[in-house]
Amino acid sequence: MTDPSEALKAQADDAQELREFESLLKSARLTRLQLPPRIRGASPEVKREQYKREIDEMLGRITYPEPFTEGVPQAIPKPFESSPKHKFCELEMYFAQMLDDETLRLVKSITPERGKKGAFPVMGGIKCLGDLWRTKCFAQSIQEVVADFCKRTAHTNEPMSVVDAGSGAFPFMAMYAALQDPRVRVTCIEHNPRAAAIAKAIVDKMGLGSQIEVVAGDILQFKRPKDTFDLVISETMNSAFATEYLQDHMTHLRDFTKPAAKFMPERVEIYAGVSGFWDTAPSSGPPKQQIRLDTSNYYFLNIEQKLTASSQGQDNTGSWKKVATWTPEAPLDTIKGQLTVGPEEDKFGFKIHVASRVYLPGVDQTTGESRPVEIAPERSLITSRQDILNDAYNGLFYTEGKEVVEFSYKPGELEDAWVSHKRQ
Ligand SMILES: C[S@@+](CC[C@H](N)C(=O)[O-])C[C@H]1O[C@@H](n2cnc3c(N)ncnc32)[C@H](O)[C@@H]1O
Repeated sequence: MTDPSEALKAQADDAQELREFESLLKSARLTRLQLPPRIRGASPEVKREQYKREIDEMLGRITYPEPFTEGVPQAIPKPFESSPKHKFCELEMYFAQMLDDETLRLVKSITPERGKKGAFPVMGGIKCLGDLWRTKCFAQSIQEVVADFCKRTAHTNEPMSVVDAGSGAFPFMAMYAALQDPRVRVTCIEHNPRAAAIAKAIVDKMGLGSQIEVVAGDILQFKRPKDTFDLVISETMNSAFATEYLQDHMTHLRDFTKPAAKFMPERVEIYAGVSGFWDTAPSSGPPKQQIRLDTSNYYFLNIEQKLTASSQGQDNTGSWKKVATWTPEAPLDTIKGQLTVGPEEDKFGFKIHVASRVYLPGVDQTTGESRPVEIAPERSLITSRQDILNDAYNGLFYTEGKEVVEFSYKPGELEDAWVSHKRQ
C-alpha cells in the first residue's frame, strides 16, 4: 500500500474493528447471562448436549418477523432488554461470553491486509447472527439435512463432510452442524484472519476442535480433492445478489462436492418491482397511500403491501415480478428485468426495487421427502428490498407517462446497474 491516505484509512479501520469487538466482549461480561455452572468440568458429551439444548432454546424464542425494508431486523432478545445500551442479540452474547482476554490479545496481534474482496470486518460477520429469522431458517435446514444424512448412512457410519464458506468470527452454522452429530466434520473458510482466529478460539472453547477446522483464506483459492463434501453452506449473499458473491463461491466449491451433495442455499429467486409518485390519484387499482410532499399531493404505490406476491405479480400494481432464478447448476451471468410503470398521462417519479426469496434444502422428518426451507422477501437482510440507484436522483427516475423499464446488473454489482426507460 503506497498511498499514505489509504494507509491511514487502513489503520483507522483496524482500530475501529478492534474497538467494536472489544465492546462486544465488555457487554458480554456485563450481562447477567453466564454459562450455567454445570457445564464447567462436565464430560464432552454432556457439554455438547447442553450447548445444543441452549442454542435450540434461543432459536425457539425467534418468531416470524414483520417485513422490514431497512437495517437489521430488531433482534434484541429477552435477557438483554434491561440493557438497551447493549445492542447485541442473545446468540451473539452467548458466544461472546465464551471468549476471554487471551482471545482479545490474539486478535490484536493480527493486522489484516485490507481490501480483500468480500471480507467483512469482524463485527460485520458477527452481526449477521442478529438477522434472526435467517439464522433460524439456516439452523432448521442444517438440522434436517444432517439428520437425513445420518439416517441414510447409519449402516456405514461414514463421516459427513461439510464446508462453511465465509463462516465469520462466530461460525454458528459450522458449530450447529457439528453439534447435531459427532460424525459431522466441518471446514470453515474465512477471509478476515482476525475473524478466523476468533472462530478457532470459540470452536476450541466449545470442545469442537476435533470436528471443525478453521482455514483463514479466500474461498476462491480453497482446494480439496474432488468428491469431498456432502454439504456446502455459504451465507455470503445479500438480497438480490446486490453486493456479495455467493454465486462465485458456490460455483468454485462445486468442484469439490460429491454427486449427491446439498447446497445451502439451493435456490435463490430474484424479484423486481416499481413504486412511484403520481401527480393525480388513479381512479382504480390497488389501495394507494396518499402522502404530501411540499405543496403537491402525490400518491404512493404501496409496494410493501404486496411483498409476498407470487411470481405472477403485475409489476405496475406494486407486486414483485420474478426476474431470475439462481441454482448452483445454473449460475447467472446477468440479472435483468423488464417492468412497466405509470398511468398513461401522468408525470411521475418511480423507484426500481429488487428483492429475493431464498430456499434452503430441507427434509420432512416424517416422510423423508425433500422440501425447502423458505425465507420470504423482506423477512431477512438476505431477502430484503434493495433500490436500484443508478444515476437517478435519490433513486427516483422521472417519467412523462406509461413506460417500459429495463434494467440489468452483474451478480454482486447492483450499484453498476444499467437502466433504461422509454414510452411504449
Ligand atoms: C454475511 S457474513 C456470514 C457470517 C456467518 N456465516 C453467518 O452466516 O452468520 C459473510 C462472511 O463471509 C466472509 N467472506 C466473504 N467473502 C469471502 C471469501 N471470498 N473468502 C472467505 N470468506 C469470505 C466475510 O468475511 C464474512 O465473515
